[in-house]
Amino acid sequence: MIHSRIAGTGSHLPEKVITNFDLEKMVDTTDEWIRSRTGIERRHVAADGETTVDLAEKAARRALDAAGVAPAEVDFIAFGTTTPDLVFPNCGTLLQQRLGCRGVPAFSLETACAGFMYALSIADKYVRCGEARRALVIGAETLSRITDWSDRATAVLFADGAGAVVLEPSAAPGVLSTHLHSDGHYKDLLYCGSGVSRGFAERLAIIMAGNEVFKVAVTKLGSGVDEALAANGLERSAVDWLVPHQANIRIIQATARRLDIPMERVIVTVQDHGNTSAASVPLALDVAVRDGRIRRGDLLLLEAFGGGFTWGSALVRY
Ligand code: UT7
Repeated sequence: MIHSRIAGTGSHLPEKVITNFDLEKMVDTTDEWIRSRTGIERRHVAADGETTVDLAEKAARRALDAAGVAPAEVDFIAFGTTTPDLVFPNCGTLLQQRLGCRGVPAFSLETACAGFMYALSIADKYVRCGEARRALVIGAETLSRITDWSDRATAVLFADGAGAVVLEPSAAPGVLSTHLHSDGHYKDLLYCGSGVSRGFAERLAIIMAGNEVFKVAVTKLGSGVDEALAANGLERSAVDWLVPHQANIRIIQATARRLDIPMERVIVTVQDHGNTSAASVPLALDVAVRDGRIRRGDLLLLEAFGGGFTWGSALVRY
C-alpha cells in the first residue's frame, strides 16, 4: 500500500511587521488587551503590490529545497487561500507557471482558515492512489487586503504569510488520516460579504462575531482532535506535537487541555504571526521543523478552523 509523507516544509513571511504598539496608534486598543485576549504581539503584512502567490512561491521553493525536489518535478499543486491574486487564473496555476511544472493539475480552494487542511487531504489522496508523486500543498494569504484597519475587533488579529509542504509516496505511513468538515449554518458569524457574483462592496472587510466564533471553534477543534485519534486507535499520549491553527492562544490552550498535552508540546507562533488563515498551520509546522523541535518519526496532530464554518484535522507521522 502506498502512503504519502511530508518530504519537506517551507514558509515565507513578508518583511513589514506591525506590532501591537503600532496598532495602538491606529485604533482604540492596547498591547495589553491584544496580548491577553489573543496572544498576538506582532504580525507581518505584505508590501504594496506583494501578492499571495509572491509569498507562496517563496514558501514553495523552500519546501522543495528541503525535500530535494526540483520545481519542474512537481506534478500536483493544491493551494488553499481566501485572498487570491485574481478571480482567475487560480493561485495554484499562477504558481505552477512560476515553478515551470507545465501541464500538471493545479488549483486553489477557498475554505478559509481550513484551506491548508483541505489541500493536504486532497493531495494525500492523489499521492496514495499513485496519481501524484511530488505534490505541493500550499496555504497562503494576504488577509491585510481584506482587513478593515479602522476596526479594532479585526485589525488586531489578521496577517499575511505562506506555508508549504511537499508530499511524496512512501512505504511507511506519513499522513495517517485527514478529517474535513463544514457547516454553512454558521456563515453569518465570520465572512467577507463581497464577491464576484454578489458584486464587490466599496471596501472588502472581514466581519466576525468573535465571541461566538470562539465558542464554536473550541468545540469543533476539540471534537476534531478526538476524531483523528479515534480513527487511528491512538491515545492522546501518543501525540508528540500539536500544530494548531494560530487564531488565539486561548483557543490553542483549550485544545491542548482537551488533548491533555502540556503547552511545551504545542507549536505556538500566534505571537509572531497573528492569524494568517490558510497559512497558519504550514507556517507553524515549518518554524518547528526548522528550529529542530519536530523531528523525523514524531507524531503530529494538525488542526484548523475558520469561516463557513470549515474545519479539519490530520494525524501525521513526520
Ligand atoms: O481563524 C478563524 C477563526 N477565528 C477565531 O477563531 C477567532 C475567535 N475569536 C476570538 O479570538 C476572540 O473572540 C476575539 C479575540 C476576537 C475577541 O476576544 P473576546 O475575549 O471574545 O472579546 P469580546 O469580543 O467579548 O470583547 C470584549 C471587550 C468588548 O468591550 P465591552 O463590550 O466589554 O466594553 C470589546 O468592544 O473588548 C472590546 N474589544 C477591544 N478592546 C480593545 C474588542 N476588540 C478590542 C481591541 N482592543 N482590539
